[in-house]
Amino acid sequence: VSVSRPLRPTATLVPQCVLEFAQFLLKNGSAAGIPKLVERFSKFSPSPLSMKQFIDFGSANACEKTSFVFLRQEFPVRLANIMKEIDFLPDKLLSTPSLKLLTSWYSQSLLELVDFLEKDPSDREVLTSFTQTLVNIRNRHNNVVPTMAQGVVEYKEAFGVDPVTNQNVQYFLDRFYMSRISTRMLMNQHSHSCHPLIFDGSVNPAHPKHIGSIDPTCDVVEVVKDAYETSKMLCEQYYLTSPEMEITEVNSKSPGQPLHIVYVPSHLYHMLFELFKNAMRATVETHETSLTLPPIKVRVALGAEDLTIKMSDRGGGVPLRKIERLFSYMYSTAPSPVHADNSRNAPLAGFGYGLPISRLYAKYFQGDLQLYSMEGYGTSAVIYLKALSSESVERLPVFNKSALRHYQSSIEADDWCMPSKEPRKLGNSE
Ligand SMILES: Nc1ncnc2c1ncn2[C@@H]1O[C@H](COP(=O)(O)OP(=O)(O)OP(=O)(O)O)[C@@H](O)[C@H]1O
Ligand SMILES: *[C@@H]1O[C@H](CO)[C@@H](O)[C@H](O)[C@H]1NC(C)=O
Ligand SMILES: [Mg+2]
Repeated sequence: VSVSRPLRPTATLVPQCVLEFAQFLLKNGSAAGIPKLVERFSKFSPSPLSMKQFIDFGSANACEKTSFVFLRQEFPVRLANIMKEIDFLPDKLLSTPSLKLLTSWYSQSLLELVDFLEKDPSDREVLTSFTQTLVNIRNRHNNVVPTMAQGVVEYKEAFGVDPVTNQNVQYFLDRFYMSRISTRMLMNQHSHSCHPLIFDGSVNPAHPKHIGSIDPTCDVVEVVKDAYETSKMLCEQYYLTSPEMEITEVNSKSPGQPLHIVYVPSHLYHMLFELFKNAMRATVETHETSLTLPPIKVRVALGAEDLTIKMSDRGGGVPLRKIERLFSYMYSTAPSPVHADNSRNAPLAGFGYGLPISRLYAKYFQGDLQLYSMEGYGTSAVIYLKALSSESVERLPVFNKSALRHYQSSIEADDWCMPSKEPRKLGNSE
């Protein structure tokens, strides 16, 4: 299973020449038409696909033409929906070089895709060039996450963070990164059987049963072990020690049988790897002076509705007050470019997106990720996935009036009492 995100993405400053080139492209392409295109395609709602539909699209007898006809419409719709929302970010964030570059990628990709709307689906060359376009788009968008993160860091350093901006940016980034997870999934699954060599993850000699990135019989415990081993290796490199893992499985559907679900193993791996890194770091750091480390306990349970994975560490926990912040993009521990390189924890902790992005992966197919912590003792992280593939349907943002309202409303004054420092004396006290 591949690690889709580098452990510690370095904040890349966008070179001026790249930026100028992007602007050149936009000016000289049909840039003037972009707002119109976005307007036109954002009128449609994205169509969420179920796990079953993804499998049908990618199976051997699927027709590349059908997939093409669907994608040339659906992809621009998803891009346009999220591009509408980009416009609602604070101007000061939008005007950072990182955001300018990033929006130029989106515009360029939208232009390239709509070019196919009038083309003939039965023309072999059209299909081939569409696939090539998808490859180009996927590569163009490779650095979207660090580039966006860089923009947020730049904004934060220049203007600080306030609760309203934090709330808007959080709302936006959850939707933005979710949109990106979904479009990458679409690209990976497109005509997996027709162009097996073009997309990595499509043909996997070790896993011939995989359909694109989906494993119809994903062995959950196997993925847990993989993620543990990789994280353990890193942990040992930096701390020269690592906690053991104890794993328990409960299959309430067919007792004693391995736990299988229809899922995207790389997504599951991503979440588990992030949770293991966090658990290991917390465990090692709170037990620095002791000879033995308490193990990380993992319990996997399959019920009628949920497949649940609970990972418990004794790494000292986090106070309740701070839990919400751990999922925040703006309040994250993102290193400023100056401090990026001298943090002791660097290998196990990057720019603080481990938890929020993992939660998006869980939510993408209608699951969730939650943290329960006991300060002074340890933390349990729980991943909820749908046990039934019929319930694993994409969860996608849509830009409509409801979304608009989120960007336009500011936080209202609190409507809960503030605890006063001293109890007020009642009038009739002696
Ligand atoms: N199991 C845990 N025990 C104690 N603290 C935790 C635990 N998991 C997360 N945290 C705290 O939450 C913070 C945010 O975690 P998150 O994984 O999102 O980012 P990170 O680990 O700092 O960086 P990254 O995951 O991007 O490399 C961590 O820095 C850590 O302080
Ligand atoms: C926005 O879209 C969602 C999902 O389709 C829908 O539930 C909601 O009612 C829509 N809001 C408006 C104001 O149309
Ligand atoms: Mg982490």
